Amino acid sequence: MQHGLFITFEGIDGAGKSSHIEALAQAFGAAGRTVTLTREPGGTPLAERLRELLLHQPMDALTEALLAFAGRRDHLRCVIEPALARGEVVLCDRFTDATFAYQGAGRGVDAGLLSQLEHTVQAGSGQNPDSVRNPDLTLWFDVAPEVAAARLAAARAPDRFEAQPVEFFRRVAGGYAQRMAEAPARFARIDAARAREQVAAEVLAQVAARGWLGGGGGVHG
Ligand code: TYD
Repeated sequence: MQHGLFITFEGIDGAGKSSHIEALAQAFGAAGRTVTLTREPGGTPLAERLRELLLHQPMDALTEALLAFAGRRDHLRCVIEPALARGEVVLCDRFTDATFAYQGAGRGVDAGLLSQLEHTVQAGSGQNPDSVRNPDLTLWFDVAPEVAAARLAAARAPDRFEAQPVEFFRRVAGGYAQRMAEAPARFARIDAARAREQVAAEVLAQVAARGWLGGGGGVHG
């Protein structure tokens, strides 16, 4: 059986990651892999209810962080870990880096506390009870907050996060940069200011370079 693969997609609102997740799912499908497509906040019935609250109900930053990790716990136990144990590819639209970026860098929740929650919530997965579940790869769609804001302005009614000013997203982007600096091997930074086709090609190239799409004698994960 093939090893499970856990890939997450991150970036500020308006970075344009969503369409690329679908395209990558198709590429993995074409390579013969079973794909679980999921998202955070959300991914289980319980976590989807928490998502609704997070995106629309006024609350303080620490409450946001606690709800994000509560949903993550359920998501890991009910969806992500079982899929990885079956050897599937799990593509997740946002994960813990978003909590560090939005609640930590964006809203000022202490990074040490987020780290503790990360270790508790993501512990004990796989075969090693001491291990912490982290993505095998995080694709960070990086774009200037002004560019993202212009894209969002053309879209639907904003939720609590999308309604934030450019300054907030500058801090969030700084949070992502910090997370990448702390774990460079896990991240691929994608310049998301470019045309959609170029971004799509780079997403595939980043994954293919790791030998995960099969063919061409690549090393299978
Ligand atoms: P997003 O993933 O952009 O979904 P959509 O494309 O449907 O808008 O929206 C999720 C929002 O939740 C986004 O603004 C980031 C925010 N968020 C947090 O603040 N903390 C978290 O831990 C996560 C996972 C997301």
